[in-house]
Amino acid sequence: MLKVENLTVYYGKALAVKDVTIEIKKGEICAVIGSNGAGKTTILNAIAGVIGKDGKVVFENRDITNLDTHEIANLGIAYLPDGKTVFKELTVFDNLRVAYYKKLKTGGEVGFQQKLSGIFEHFTNLKEKIKLKAGFLSGGEQQMLSIAQSLIREPKLVILDEPSAGLSPKLVKDLFNIITFMKKNRLTVLIVEQNVNKTIKVADKVYFLKNGKIVDFGKAEDFRDDRVIKKAYFGG
Ligand SMILES: Nc1ncnc2c1ncn2[C@@H]1O[C@H](COP(=O)(O)OP(=O)(O)OP(=O)(O)O)[C@@H](O)[C@H]1O
Ligand SMILES: [Mg+2]
Repeated sequence: MLKVENLTVYYGKALAVKDVTIEIKKGEICAVIGSNGAGKTTILNAIAGVIGKDGKVVFENRDITNLDTHEIANLGIAYLPDGKTVFKELTVFDNLRVAYYKKLKTGGEVGFQQKLSGIFEHFTNLKEKIKLKAGFLSGGEQQMLSIAQSLIREPKLVILDEPSAGLSPKLVKDLFNIITFMKKNRLTVLIVEQNVNKTIKVADKVYFLKNGKIVDFGKAEDFRDDRVIKKAYFGG
C-alpha cells in the first residue's frame, strides 16, 4: 500500500534521515521506533508532504513524492502530527460532524450515525462529553478527539506521531484498544511511539531508526522479547 524508497532529508546542511526504505502492506500496523532526534517525525512529515525530500514515496501504486499535503490527504492518508486539529469553539459532536462532512454525500446521515456509534464504543470519554466544547476537554482528550476525527473520515492509511504522548494511563489504555480496533478493521497504520512494548505488541512490523538510518527491522513478533528490543533500540 505504501512504499518509501531511499528517503533522505536534510535540514540545511544537516542530514536528518538517510536512505530510509519502508514498506507497509494493506491492513498492517507498522511501527517506527527510535530515540529522540532519530528522525521519526521527519520521516512522517516527508511522507505526508510537509517537507521536501529525496527518494520516492508510492501510495497504492501512485507516485506521491511531489504532491502537496492536501492532495496527499485527499488520497486517504490521515496524518496526525499532534492533538491540535480540533475546533475548540465547537462541541465534541460538531467536531466529529465537521470531520465527516465530505463523507456525508456518500454515507449520508445513516452512515454518520453508524460511524459515530462505532467511534463511541472505543472513545468512551468522548461519548460522555459529546455536548461539551472541545476547548474544555483536557489535552489528552483533545488528542483522542483528533484521532476520532481522522477515523470518522474513513482513511486508508493513518499516520500517528507519538499518539500516547501526554495521555493519562487510562487514555493510553484506550488508545491501544483503539489501535487494536483499527487492526481488526484492516486499517493500515504507520505509528511512531515511545511506548515501545505496547506498540510492538499491536504492531505487525517494526523498524528501528538510529541517527536517521534504519538499523534493524522485521516482524514485530520477533522483537517482543525485551532483550531484543534493548539490543536493537539502544544498541546494547
Ligand atoms: N525544522 C528543522 N530544522 C532543522 N533541524 C531539524 C528540524 N526538524 C528536525 N530537525 C533535526 O532533525 C533530527 C531529527 O528530528 P525528528 O524530529 O525527526 O526526530 P524524532 O525522531 O521525531 O525525535 P523525537 O522523538 O524527539 O520526536 C534532529 O536532530 C532534529 O534536531
Ligand atoms: Mg518526533
